[in-house]
Amino acid sequence: MGVETSAMPNDESVAERIAQLREQLQHHAHQYYTLDAPQIPDTEYDRLFQALEALEEAHPELRTADSPTQRVLGQVLDGFTPVRHAVPMLSIRTETDTEATGALAFDARVRRELRLTDADPPVEYGAELKFDGLAINLRYEQGLLVQATTRGDGEVGEDVTQNIRTIRQIPHRLKGVKAEVLEVRGEVYMRRDDFDKLNERQRDQGGKTFVNPRNAAAGAVRQLDPNITVQRPLSFFAYGLGDVQGWNVPPTHSAMLDALQAMGLPVSDERLVAQGADGPAGLIGFHQAIGAKRDQLPFDIDGIVYKVNRRDLQDRLGFVSREPRWAVAHKYPAQEQLTQVEAIDIQVGRTGKLTPVARLKPVFVGGVTVTNATLHNLFEMRRKRVRVGDTVIVRRAGDVIPEVVSVVSAVPRASYVLNFRMPRHCPICQSTVEREPGEMNHRCSGGLFCAAQRKQALLHFAQRRAVEVEGLGEKLVDQLVDGGLVRTLPELYKMGVAKLAALDRMADKSAQNIVSALEKSKQTTLPRFLFGLGIRHVGEATAKDLAKHFGKMGHKDDENGGGVMHASVEQLLAVKDVGPIVAQSIRTFFDQAHNCEVVEQLRAAGVTWPEHEPSAEADAASLPMFGKTFVLTGTLPTLGREEAKALIEAQGGKVAGSVSKKTTYVVAGAEAGSKLDKAQELGLTIVDQEGLLALLNIEPGSLQDGSA
Ligand code: IVH
Repeated sequence: MGVETSAMPNDESVAERIAQLREQLQHHAHQYYTLDAPQIPDTEYDRLFQALEALEEAHPELRTADSPTQRVLGQVLDGFTPVRHAVPMLSIRTETDTEATGALAFDARVRRELRLTDADPPVEYGAELKFDGLAINLRYEQGLLVQATTRGDGEVGEDVTQNIRTIRQIPHRLKGVKAEVLEVRGEVYMRRDDFDKLNERQRDQGGKTFVNPRNAAAGAVRQLDPNITVQRPLSFFAYGLGDVQGWNVPPTHSAMLDALQAMGLPVSDERLVAQGADGPAGLIGFHQAIGAKRDQLPFDIDGIVYKVNRRDLQDRLGFVSREPRWAVAHKYPAQEQLTQVEAIDIQVGRTGKLTPVARLKPVFVGGVTVTNATLHNLFEMRRKRVRVGDTVIVRRAGDVIPEVVSVVSAVPRASYVLNFRMPRHCPICQSTVEREPGEMNHRCSGGLFCAAQRKQALLHFAQRRAVEVEGLGEKLVDQLVDGGLVRTLPELYKMGVAKLAALDRMADKSAQNIVSALEKSKQTTLPRFLFGLGIRHVGEATAKDLAKHFGKMGHKDDENGGGVMHASVEQLLAVKDVGPIVAQSIRTFFDQAHNCEVVEQLRAAGVTWPEHEPSAEADAASLPMFGKTFVLTGTLPTLGREEAKALIEAQGGKVAGSVSKKTTYVVAGAEAGSKLDKAQELGLTIVDQEGLLALLNIEPGSLQDGSA
């Protein structure tokens, strides 16, 4: 056939490339549609798709019926009943030109098809949001919801009625309509706040997180167990019709949506009946107005849908292949893009949480240039297998912090080695970094000493339930800290009226009031003061218990003088309701010299509280197992877990949930798991049931009687 030049690939390599593209597209379509676990961003998928389309265009002889370009992808999952749609569920043409010209091109096409001239008036359109979820067909018979199906391949979908019934927004009975058949089509989606909450919950429980609301929604709808669907908050918007029998369909799209709304179906209010493409009342105006507030919408959209409003005109325009000529989706810039991780840094939040942040090669995503993205915590990083140097998908939707959703790698990473280390000391204040057993997050233990936590610490100290400084609210704290007036708690008491009055928008009178309030706050109580220090896990109740138990705060340089400040973990464990985590947290706090220093400086500034000698309830200290921490693992031959715990506690011991250096004894029974491994690793003393009873001085025989 033709002449071969070096620039023109030969047919063999084209065929190879086509085969390769088809394979890739099939793989990614399966990941996306069937498994709800995409590995590449949509834009990347579109790019591959377009590359294949172009090659097939140039080589029609290589086109095959099973090419991804020739069919709608998405298969029926095993487990759902396939349902043939009474009226096929079509897709719409996408206008990828995200500029105004995209809308102009559509309007021009419609006018041409309708044979309109420049002299004819503008075409009327219904403009609405393109929701980013999954299409669902709701079949109502005599006004009752009888079946809900997914789109599937457009001809045959899946019966997901049970799952859809869990969505509260979807009426089971329509208001005022008894039509024989009324099929309503719309989008099931997840709101961003619901999505964030869901992912947070999953993250806390160490479960799988979802890459975006659309995938979370799709996964929830196609859950084989409706009990899981009901825990995944879904929403719905109607946008069209399927099969209709016995109902007079209104003559325009907008009137049809009004009618659906009146029946009790959710229809978005963000819609417009537009006249033509140009001008403030046209499609372009709507596209721009929604684009400007896209971030503030409570859910994701990926564009606007324009539909010719009049049904008679829709009918005249008809369809081309599987898409109506009367509708188009006008896209917005994508919210997910590929980029590289150049470094991973640590950010310290207001609560002391250390968040790993990926420094990215700048990328334009969701309408802005993104250079940082959160990685949440070390466990998320491990789960996503992120490393410095990786190519990743970043997502920025809404006004939220951009996030790394996944790593793109051709070969799955079998063994993953982090090339990042959580620092042992806070990058802001050098205090030790801690992670409690069972916790996902690393935290700075600096508390009120840490600049990152400074504002929060001041507000916490000044609140009504703590020492109470009336008038010291968020705005003032911002001013004080940002202006460099106050860096530590004691410095609060060093500001004079003059300095305060010099602040923006501060009258002499208010400055005087703050100074008086500060003066008043100096007379406080030990529980209020302890609570005010902001020690992690020490709430009001614990502060009261501590104050009652120890009676006094203690002094920095008087270790033998006692008080909360110098209490050992064992002594702290003897306090009512104080467990190992709280005890450790208090100890860690006062182990940092700078925290004790703050206490002394507050005293020096005149903060005082009444003290007393330790109360007598601390008898626990005299019990034989006082200060010993036990961990139970596996099944003991005769003792139940609760029984064993009760025996240990009766003698003053504590039972903890996880093994650490602080554990005194590990009691192991049959099928003991990772706790036993850990205990061996740490070289702890491990005993069996017999050994436990020996420790507690209990005759094994003496137990049987009690259990009857
Ligand atoms: S109308 C015949 N309107 O976009 C026209 N679709 O490819 C059928 N979508 O699968 C679709 N928002 O899930 C329509 N306001 C809207 C939409 C919308 C989102 C989805 C729908 C469909 C895809 C179109």
